[in-house]
Amino acid sequence: MPAGSSFHSMWRELLPIGRHPDSRGYRRFAWTGADAECRAWFKEQAEARGLAYEVDRNGNQWAWLGDPGAGDAVVTGSHLDSVPDGGAFDGPLGVVSSFAALDELRGRGVEFSKPLAIVNFGDEEGARFGLACVGSRLTAGQLTVEKAHKLTDGDGISLPRAMEAAGYDPDAIGADPDRLGRIGAFVELHVEQGRALALSDSGSAAGSGDRIGIASAIWPHGRWRFDFRGEANHAGTTRLVDRRDPMLSYAETVLAARREAELAGAVATFGKITVEPNGVNAIPSLVRGWLDSRAEDQERLDAVVGGIENAAREYAAAHGIELDVVRESFTPVVEFDHALRDELARILGKDTDITVPVLGTGAGHDAGILSGSIPTAMLFVRNPTGVSHSPAEFAAEDDCVAGVLALADVLEGLACR
Ligand code: GLV
Ligand code: MN
Ligand code: MN
Repeated sequence: MPAGSSFHSMWRELLPIGRHPDSRGYRRFAWTGADAECRAWFKEQAEARGLAYEVDRNGNQWAWLGDPGAGDAVVTGSHLDSVPDGGAFDGPLGVVSSFAALDELRGRGVEFSKPLAIVNFGDEEGARFGLACVGSRLTAGQLTVEKAHKLTDGDGISLPRAMEAAGYDPDAIGADPDRLGRIGAFVELHVEQGRALALSDSGSAAGSGDRIGIASAIWPHGRWRFDFRGEANHAGTTRLVDRRDPMLSYAETVLAARREAELAGAVATFGKITVEPNGVNAIPSLVRGWLDSRAEDQERLDAVVGGIENAAREYAAAHGIELDVVRESFTPVVEFDHALRDELARILGKDTDITVPVLGTGAGHDAGILSGSIPTAMLFVRNPTGVSHSPAEFAAEDDCVAGVLALADVLEGLACR
């Protein structure tokens, strides 16, 4: 089947899964019904192609061509879960393109000299349990079993209970160095989450920007939980001077985050908040806000987060509020493997005079987590608006097919030599 039609038929099958009828965004959260449907789809794709299907100890799904035990495997894939009301492309584009690239290579009649695998990493977005890349972090030993077992969702359901309810064994989870030791290279294709490709033009046939890019690095990033505790009271009868209202310090902290990020040329976002008791006519007793902050280097990130925390402490003190700040996750800067990156550039630039753009990103990925254990690389597909983590996320069909062909070329170059 040509790359285009194989891509389209898979894309159409996946599109309705986990899509909310009102927002039109995706709610494919780890270990939920929508996640199970995505997983069933992955298994079907593997079996339809005669690939050996397996689920590892951390719930990541694998589809193997060739002997998984032979070593030096070339692995590609991404994730199928989403952020709340996410777009269709972040994650699924990489998984669908992986199967389509394999179809393309089979159409070309290539012979593989190394095992090839397609992977779907579980819980990449961390939308349900608050920690991103749980599947790859566990596998790489960057998340301990003890910590994973303590993760809970917004309804108080723990990760082990959620896994169990979905039919997986939470006692089996943990580092998987043997599995990683059998992988020679991991390449993740992903929709670009910015407009660097749309704005660049290195002479590609598309004319208006470049369709495909190669990742250089991922900014260091993390998530911090700010708990502002005050005193619940009546919204109508409590004089302003008598209040200990944590919403005020929270609001001032949000503004400080914007200011500090601007000063450092970084980004800082409070995108999630819970309020107790959450009543219109009650002064809150607790405001809990989650800060996501990212910067080009560690020094700037430290300056931004330190500045926000200092400001929050001042505001809290001024309003008689208790403040706790907890770092819930952190990923240091990732420099993708230079040799693999150059190899991708060579493969994609071969037979043309085009230099494929190489770009950094502020978004986190499983490839970034695995880069501490094995050589990893990423391909980006042009996103004309740059919008991501939103139902408006988009990539043109032609660009997606160009992504499949680029990934096929890369896999052929890496696994057929
Ligand atoms: C994942 O998409 C992240 O960057 O938060
Ligand atoms: Mn994402
Ligand atoms: Mn992603």
